[in-house]
Amino acid sequence: MHPTDATTTLTLTRPDDWHLHVRDGDVLGTVVPHTAAQFARAIIMPNLKPPVTTVEQAQAYAGRIRAVLPPGSDFTPLMTLYLTDRLDPAEIRRAGATRAATHQAPIVAAKLYPAGATTNSDAGVTDIRRIYPVLEAMQREGLLLLVHGEVTSPDIDLFDREAVFIEEQLIPLRRDFPELRIVMEHITTREAAHYVRDAGPHTAATITAHHLLFNRNAIFTGGIRPHYYCLPVLKRETHRLALVEAATSGNPRFFLGTDSAPHPAHLKEHASGCAGCYTAHAALEMYAQAFDAAGALDKLEGFASFHGADFYGLPRNSGTRTLQRMDWQTPTQFPFGAAELKPLQGGETLPWKLLPA
Ligand code: DOR
Ligand code: ZN
Repeated sequence: MHPTDATTTLTLTRPDDWHLHVRDGDVLGTVVPHTAAQFARAIIMPNLKPPVTTVEQAQAYAGRIRAVLPPGSDFTPLMTLYLTDRLDPAEIRRAGATRAATHQAPIVAAKLYPAGATTNSDAGVTDIRRIYPVLEAMQREGLLLLVHGEVTSPDIDLFDREAVFIEEQLIPLRRDFPELRIVMEHITTREAAHYVRDAGPHTAATITAHHLLFNRNAIFTGGIRPHYYCLPVLKRETHRLALVEAATSGNPRFFLGTDSAPHPAHLKEHASGCAGCYTAHAALEMYAQAFDAAGALDKLEGFASFHGADFYGLPRNSGTRTLQRMDWQTPTQFPFGAAELKPLQGGETLPWKLLPA
């Protein structure tokens, strides 16, 4: 199939979201159904308060996610552990045992947040060398390492933190664990896109819809726009173009990860606003828009439905979802516990719409 400008519908094998935040408690009922309506599976980030650091916590969290699924939904949460300086390698072995095919909530990866890099990362890793025994266990068990790739030093310019992380941390890590599968999450720069492209078969990256659609001007257009603030922060246009090139290249080591990250609106519209863009309600629509703008709709299925599953060593989904070229206006807000959740581009018109399953 070769979708063209005139394509009006696009049918894909059911896709997955390889990077997602759903939080916990009463907000799950809003955000989990949005993702379950779009994706068959999602990698659930562990940066709760307190973070998800044990198999037991991850399984209980998966149960709370499953409890809010709409009746009949077969959505599967793929769970992750949060790496700290003190995590016991034995916990990695226990996590590996949850990946038996029949398991309802397999733990497939662990997330490295450099301490202080982003939302709820205070318990993160202060020095990667401290977790080398854990990384060895992960390499042995076949658990993936998911990396928030930014240095945290205040001396390094915010816009340079990803590129510096690659040089100072990722290149040595890659060398020391040649068989460990590493996903550099939510890449935002040309340096990261080129690094991953050239880093060999065990290194991949997720790319968000918002980093494909927007550059850093979006944060400052007509005033400061907190709903466009995320981490790693949007970069300049040359970087956005490099991300679009990577996502639409057909290279199987680039795949979909929304990093949809809900926060209450009043904490984003704040003197010290939280980082995170909420896109789960319209994720595929936003990706379709980005791929369409690049003339690459024919590359969306690989990016959204095949590359992630293949890299994780999980089966591809069966069944399909269909997008239709059709203007529609997105909701401006959703309930979020006692607060409000304002999605990215709320109230705006999008050119693609996902049809009901
Ligand atoms: O913008 C972000 N929000 N980046 C992250 O790394 C974390 C996420 C969140 O949890 O809010
Ligand atoms: Zn994230």
